[in-house]
Amino acid sequence: MDSFEWGSGEIAGEEAELSFALFGDANVYSILVAAFSAGLSRDTAWNLANVESRFLHSFHLAGKVFKRGVTFVGDIETPIRHKIDAEHSYCVKQVDRLEQCFETVRRDDVVIIDQGVADYWRLQIPGKFLCFKFSEVEKNLLTVRAIVNILRAHQPPRSRVIVVGGGVAGDLVGFAAGILGFRCHYIPTTLLAMIDSSLGGKVGVNFEPWGKNQIGLFRSPVGVSIWTGWLSTLDDVQLRSGLVEALKHALLGGQTQLWHDLMDAAKSTPVNDRLIRSKILDVISIKQAVISRDPFERGERAILNFGHTLGHALETFATKRGHSVTHGECVAIGMIHALRLSAEYCGMTGVEEMISDLRLVCPNSKRLCKMFGTADDLPSVKEEILGLLLADKKASSNLSAATDSGHVKYVLLTAPGSIARSQSGAWTVSHPQATAWLDIVKTWNFLMST
Ligand SMILES: NC(=O)c1ccc[n+]([C@@H]2O[C@H](COP(=O)([O-])OP(=O)(O)OC[C@H]3O[C@@H](n4cnc5c(N)ncnc54)[C@H](O)[C@@H]3O)[C@@H](O)[C@H]2O)c1
Ligand SMILES: [Zn+2]
Repeated sequence: MDSFEWGSGEIAGEEAELSFALFGDANVYSILVAAFSAGLSRDTAWNLANVESRFLHSFHLAGKVFKRGVTFVGDIETPIRHKIDAEHSYCVKQVDRLEQCFETVRRDDVVIIDQGVADYWRLQIPGKFLCFKFSEVEKNLLTVRAIVNILRAHQPPRSRVIVVGGGVAGDLVGFAAGILGFRCHYIPTTLLAMIDSSLGGKVGVNFEPWGKNQIGLFRSPVGVSIWTGWLSTLDDVQLRSGLVEALKHALLGGQTQLWHDLMDAAKSTPVNDRLIRSKILDVISIKQAVISRDPFERGERAILNFGHTLGHALETFATKRGHSVTHGECVAIGMIHALRLSAEYCGMTGVEEMISDLRLVCPNSKRLCKMFGTADDLPSVKEEILGLLLADKKASSNLSAATDSGHVKYVLLTAPGSIARSQSGAWTVSHPQATAWLDIVKTWNFLMST
């Protein structure tokens, strides 16, 4: 494994207060900024041989959350990794009634409810609960600090946190709880959270300007209670957003019939949530199989990022400009792009039908134009989009940041259920940024013309 040799450890005390409030250490934030600025990937081990001993603790703390955890030269982290491994298994349970979601809640637990859910549901919760307004725009370390403060104020420490909400609530509270050593039980209330974000223990936040979910942890929940009744108050935009991730799982699992069933649900107006409910466990089992083989994304788990290379970059780009866009819409664009690349570079056939299906769950050309501009506008945002694409390096690469700078990594397919592997065996394929940009322009022209 490649490594990066850090200097003495003297670093600018950027955001020292925030850093201290979150990690009990004023230097962590500056180290994170330095690591991103150096273009480090998650696969580059941190060599701390030259770091002064008084700063070592700060580097260990930063390395644990940088892209959800790096390895240190000398494998200092091994005992901690084993401990997390042991905690890995948890129960995902589908329940029939709303009350069953809360039947394991104890008096000591803190229940945090997404305000967007509380607006619709009058919940009878045993014990302490509070509502919090979550949003993608504020999925950052400042919000984590607010949640950490709430959890710290709660006694006794190290109790459980029950999170009732969508993916943003789960990622934020899961991270805050992980920092403090609290364990979470998820009660996902969006389709996306049920079939994706509540599973697999990935928690974390966006870190500007480096993009989505760049700081975080792997922290398995203690349990997940899935009650599909929540979907009755979810609007079509959010249902379609979740459907995109479900379609992604169907494609990665090579389950063509499941894809068609999910598309049938997406095509009906309003979205056929009864059909979705009947397919939820099938979708979940595809993701569960992948994460059980590679819980910490050292290899195969990267395939779940199919469509996310371009998708994440566009989501960050649009969110920054105040456009209301869902995660699923951006992933749908990213999946169209990845399917086109799979056809062109990996010989995948039959992508046209899947692309025209996905076109129905991604923004139409008018909306795309409003959010990102026409193909003529693309040159003016080229640097920004490429910067985001390069920061979103997928974890499975065997190449170091140094040798791979300037390459964009994609998860591509040779057929449904069959991932294109690079020559080195990695689960992602690298494209030089010049080619990557030309391909994006082509996809953009395609989207504008359909
Ligand atoms: N951790 C992971 O493995 C993982 C995987 C996929 C996506 N994600 C993250 O998930 C986030 C997207 O999650 P999301 O799609 O759930 O969005 P979200 O959490 O923003 O929820 C969408 C909206 O629906 C509202 N809502 C939630 N439940 C509702 C209900 N039952 N009825 C009515 N309204 C309801 C919310 O208040 C919010 O306004 C992104 O930040 C993405 O990065 C994480
Ligand atoms: Zn996603």
